[in-house]
Amino acid sequence: MQVRSVSARDFRSYDRLETDLGSSLTVLTGENGAGKTNLLEAVYFGCTGRSCRTHHDAELHRFGTATLRVSVAVIAPDGRHELAVGLTRGEAKRMWVDTAPVERLLDTPHRPLVSVFLPDRLDLIKGVPAGRRAHLDQLLGALWPSRAQTRRAYAQILAQRNALVARLRGVAPARWPDHLEAWDTQLVRAGLALMADRAAAAAAVAPHFGRIAAALGLEDAPTVSYRPRVATDSEDVFLNELRARWERDVERGHTGYGPHRDDLVLRRADHDLRTYGSQGQQRLGLLALLLAERAVLAEQRDRAPLMLLDDVMSELDRTRRRRLVDLLLSTPGQALITATDSEHVPVPRASAAVQLVVAGGALTGAPPDGGDRADC
Ligand SMILES: Nc1ncnc2c1ncn2[C@@H]1O[C@H](COP(=O)(O)OP(=O)(O)OP(=O)(O)O)[C@@H](O)[C@H]1O
Ligand SMILES: [Mg+2]
Repeated sequence: MQVRSVSARDFRSYDRLETDLGSSLTVLTGENGAGKTNLLEAVYFGCTGRSCRTHHDAELHRFGTATLRVSVAVIAPDGRHELAVGLTRGEAKRMWVDTAPVERLLDTPHRPLVSVFLPDRLDLIKGVPAGRRAHLDQLLGALWPSRAQTRRAYAQILAQRNALVARLRGVAPARWPDHLEAWDTQLVRAGLALMADRAAAAAAVAPHFGRIAAALGLEDAPTVSYRPRVATDSEDVFLNELRARWERDVERGHTGYGPHRDDLVLRRADHDLRTYGSQGQQRLGLLALLLAERAVLAEQRDRAPLMLLDDVMSELDRTRRRRLVDLLLSTPGQALITATDSEHVPVPRASAAVQLVVAGGALTGAPPDGGDRADC
């Protein structure tokens, strides 16, 4: 599946935007504030119906305007499709697939998968485990859509058990209801299913991560692995462990043990990247993770996500910039990469990369002499 083109009206700084994307790499350059991230955000918005930068859709309206529209043309195995999103101030967001209204673009089979790297996504590496858990679950859903239900089931049971233990605060243990035990049994079953899915997703990514991270220049045996909070796959053991924590849970008013405490751990040289990685190493770790996920999705589902890489080069050295470009050009799938300076994206002249430049609010192809920067 390929995103052939994107068009937008009154989106962020653009009154009108029309551009094709390359079938492999598209490089978008422009000065600070020129509109690079806005374009990348428009592509994401057109593919998903959401922004990758904000939860407040109102921010997307070009200043002083009331209605915006973004559409992307997609080439799928069964032909060409158009996904579109329209937003008018004060009204509900509207979405269409091939002009037919839909509730969510995310549910359409014609939707391309999208993977996004924004500078603040480094939080995924540096931040709390919740972000990495959610990320792993997203991969799981993309790899095996029918298993997304496992996570929802666990979340629902956990919410019910949390509500129950919160109500029991101050109640003597002898008067705790029997259905606490019933919730535990359900939590354990759903929890073990979720843990098995997460372990399988992490195991699928791990070998690609090691290979890609090394290719990008993240040295000293980089690894990614699933770190479950619960160390058993036995229902009985998990159940007993939960039961042993009843009093603590009631005291705190929530469930303190289970896969909602899992983590995904990235390491190099046996040390956690989150704690010990340099800025550049964390950035490479995140990139390697996203690229490894892309490789797994290409391999197992024949659906390599479109990579939207915003300002990814700025903290990479020359060698690693070149390695990233080589990797993007030599693996299946599309990528859009932004940079303030075209020299930061060393694309060989013979490659099929598409060069775009944004200046003064308008988009153009790169000048013909923007060619061989292989030695930068
Ligand atoms: N809703 C909006 N309406 C009009 N302009 C906007 C809106 N939101 C943001 N802008 C402006 O769009 C311009 C371009 O922003 P963008 O983030 O795309 O720049 P950029 O090219 O990515 O720059 P940098 O290299 O600094 O990251 C900025 O001047 C910003 O103030
Ligand atoms: Mg930007």
